[in-house]
Amino acid sequence: MEYIKEIIYLIASVTFVAGLKLLGNPNSARKGNLYAAAGMILAIAATLILHEGEVATIVYVLIFAAIALGTIVGWMTARKVKMTQMPELVSLFNGMGGACAALISMIEFEHYTDQPSKVAMIAAGMVIGSVSFSGSMIAFMKLNGTMNKAIRLPKYNILNTVLMIAVVAFAVYLVASGTDNVLLVYTLLALALLYGVLFVIPIGGADMPVVISLLNSFTGLAAAFGGFLYGNMVMLTGGILVGSAGTILTLAMCNAMNRPLWNVIFGAFGEQSAAGPGEGPTGNIKEVMAGDVAILMNYAQRVVIVPGYGLAVAQAQHAIHDLEQILVSRGVEVKYAIHPVAGRMPGHMNVLLAESNVAYEKLVEMEDINPEFPNTDVVLVVGANDVVNPAAHNDPSSPIYGMPILDVENAKQVIVNKRSMKPGYAGIENELFFHDNTSMLFGDAKAAINKVIAELKDM
Ligand code: TAP
Repeated sequence: MEYIKEIIYLIASVTFVAGLKLLGNPNSARKGNLYAAAGMILAIAATLILHEGEVATIVYVLIFAAIALGTIVGWMTARKVKMTQMPELVSLFNGMGGACAALISMIEFEHYTDQPSKVAMIAAGMVIGSVSFSGSMIAFMKLNGTMNKAIRLPKYNILNTVLMIAVVAFAVYLVASGTDNVLLVYTLLALALLYGVLFVIPIGGADMPVVISLLNSFTGLAAAFGGFLYGNMVMLTGGILVGSAGTILTLAMCNAMNRPLWNVIFGAFGEQSAAGPGEGPTGNIKEVMAGDVAILMNYAQRVVIVPGYGLAVAQAQHAIHDLEQILVSRGVEVKYAIHPVAGRMPGHMNVLLAESNVAYEKLVEMEDINPEFPNTDVVLVVGANDVVNPAAHNDPSSPIYGMPILDVENAKQVIVNKRSMKPGYAGIENELFFHDNTSMLFGDAKAAINKVIAELKDM
């Protein structure tokens, strides 16, 4: 029995790895998700069916009730969620994973007090899982607007460092003392939960996706400690995969913003967006109408579309694809410029455009499209702001200074579609809007693009 279970665990682990690989491309991502989910179902079934030793019927009833409840709630939430709410959903689900790891530790402590190595796994799983749970809940509240300000307590960094040292010292004491006092485990739980809250509350809204990815890697690590505790290989593999994928994603996002991780955690970037826009460039802007944009694009040879968060809000992905197809049918070369942190989650623009069947080859990464802008006749920026803000190059005092951006300002004509002059997520003005070669097309992205399409059809 035991070795059949191990073989099934191995198969499940392979599906996790294969699933992760397939997630690397939008065309195969759905398949990757299904492979990994099938592997997980297989692993859970093997654990339940091939379990050795007597298990009371009530335990099975409870397990199946929990699985049914989790599946129904998870399914319904995932179906209802809008694309723009995805990061908060990920945060919520991730928090549940952390809570599971912490609960496992709480329950198992009593059973292993005479084995220091197991207590070490339990303490690690509890600390990391609890931090991940409470941190994810704060991230969730920040993203859904319940807690929309970055809170900085006085002497925050000192306070947080002291608390972190206290948590680690407490965990070490728990392992080294060989105590069986359950109260100490609850104290460790409370300290770790508090640390998770304090860790996330000062972090600005724009950095939340990075923090969620970091917390995601914590949850993976906590699950991996559970795998060590039970000697369960599939839990270990799954946990390590989540932990390492989360870490790689966190670092990739930091790289894309050209900010070290410590700056994300301690820098409170994006606080301005909560406080309102600061001083910024001023001057005259030029407003254009849909008809003008249609003429410009119709007679252009090369057009680059820059999608941003506003495209997702307006759900204008289908309209933009229609626009692209009309332009291509008139002999215009159209490409999409993809900034790695456009939108609110990794790969946001790729997922959005894949939804409307935009050909993957048309999506060009930032490093590849930037040299092409000087030869581009028209750039159409749709609901993007920070990712095209030249302050990242020109203004050392800007919070986004140093972040690589799409150099759309080098194109012959830039049309920016957004609803108003309000800033983007970083809360700063954008000097691009005041450039001579920039014109503003105000309005909701979907409505505005549809108007341009209607004008083009009349031409
Ligand atoms: P933003 O800078 O947030 O700008 C989006 C713009 O869209 C806003 O200025 C808004 O202006 C406009 N908009 C909103 N709703 C709209 C609608 N219905 N129709 C038309 N326009 C609309 O977006 P971005 O350029 O994509 O940059 C992403 C930001 O998120 C960056 O600061 C990035 O660092 C941050 N961030 C992203 C990630 C990931 S992983 N994607 C991770 C960390 C941080 P109006 O209100 O005037 O319409």
